[in-house]
Amino acid sequence: MTSLAMAAGFHALPLPIIQLSLSAVLKCGQSFRWSAYPLNLPAGDASSPTHEYRFCLRDRVVCLRQTATHILYRTVLPDPQPGADQQELLEAETLLWLKDYFQLNVDLALLYGEWGSRDKVFLGIQDRFSGIRMLRQDPWENLISFICSSNNNISRITKMVQSLSKEYSPPLLSLPVPDGSGVEETYHPFPPPSALAHPDVSARLRSLGFGYRADFIHRTAKMLVDTHGDSMHSRESSEPSERWLMTLRHMSTEDARAELLKFVGVGRKVADCVLLMSLDKTDVVPVDTHVHQIAIKYYGMKGSTKGKTNMTPKLYDELCTKFVKVWGDYAGWAHSVLFTSDLKSFASHGLPQTMSTPPASPVKNRKKRSREMTDLASTNLLSTSSSSESATATGFACSPNLAKRVKKR
Ligand SMILES: *[C@@H]1O[C@H](CO)[C@@H](O)[C@H](O)[C@H]1NC(C)=O
Repeated sequence: MTSLAMAAGFHALPLPIIQLSLSAVLKCGQSFRWSAYPLNLPAGDASSPTHEYRFCLRDRVVCLRQTATHILYRTVLPDPQPGADQQELLEAETLLWLKDYFQLNVDLALLYGEWGSRDKVFLGIQDRFSGIRMLRQDPWENLISFICSSNNNISRITKMVQSLSKEYSPPLLSLPVPDGSGVEETYHPFPPPSALAHPDVSARLRSLGFGYRADFIHRTAKMLVDTHGDSMHSRESSEPSERWLMTLRHMSTEDARAELLKFVGVGRKVADCVLLMSLDKTDVVPVDTHVHQIAIKYYGMKGSTKGKTNMTPKLYDELCTKFVKVWGDYAGWAHSVLFTSDLKSFASHGLPQTMSTPPASPVKNRKKRSREMTDLASTNLLSTSSSSESATATGFACSPNLAKRVKKR
């Protein structure tokens, strides 16, 4: 592993997959800007990396690979390429960023143990869905991404966030994709608030397919820039409104939520996603009707499983309180594991290879099966971006597990 890693210019950070699974965490609807590329490496042992993941920051592209025992990382800057000494400094900075972004100070194995001992439902899925931790994202990118997430699914949010970056942020650099095909990919950082505050942004985003979210994005950016200014000091890599959003980390959950709710297109659920995913509020569980149904069926909350219940602020609070009682201080993190286990795109995640390709079934059968599974499919914990994916009712990957567990109780 090490020689291979070094050959490609990677540094290695020891980290077992139970602490972090890149293939799960980077695709489960937290961040929408990571690119994943399959590697065409000579067949190694089972612990060789299968993919490279890339993320474009303001000044650099971070490339990651994962083995059974290590995270491999590499920093790429635009030309001119740095000398060896400066490259080492950059890698040290990237390592600090990785530790912060993946919150590696938090022992995930310890948390899984705790959640599993407190909750049989969690116990049933924890082995298939290991290494799923909360990212600590940039609050500005997180806020705009989750304004895009309303009434949307992961693949469409990903397209939107990528086109937002391509449209409003100049390319940082191009790199060949790592499969040896020679194809180059161009990387754009996430655009700063000032770029999205221009008056013509709303119309342009509409024409790019953002729908009603176009106006929300523009007005939110404008509000931030009008309030905090857009002057970027030469030594700062962020704008004042981005730095102000960072300060919400030091506020109480209630105060930070109140600030977020002032933005256009931000309701309780979107605000809670931002609190959890970029503002360090580990116990916040973003709630929607799916989560409500789960709470009724598996966690003993009162309510009807038939028909829709209006989500009142009081009910929302009761559900959060319940989940904190079940999972503890890191309830939001636990929720994201259950959320991921229910994504359609994770239907074969963590299963033995032979089972990982679901048998092709005629559409008619699939439909019938979906109907039969309605009860289970509605156990989606898709509280944030993917309610429409959940609405397709095929995301029942973990539902048989859930059902089994619940019958035993
Ligand atoms: C996501 O939403 C778009 C637009 O509503 C739809 O065309 C697409 O099929 C959906 N994708 C998934 C995976 O549900």
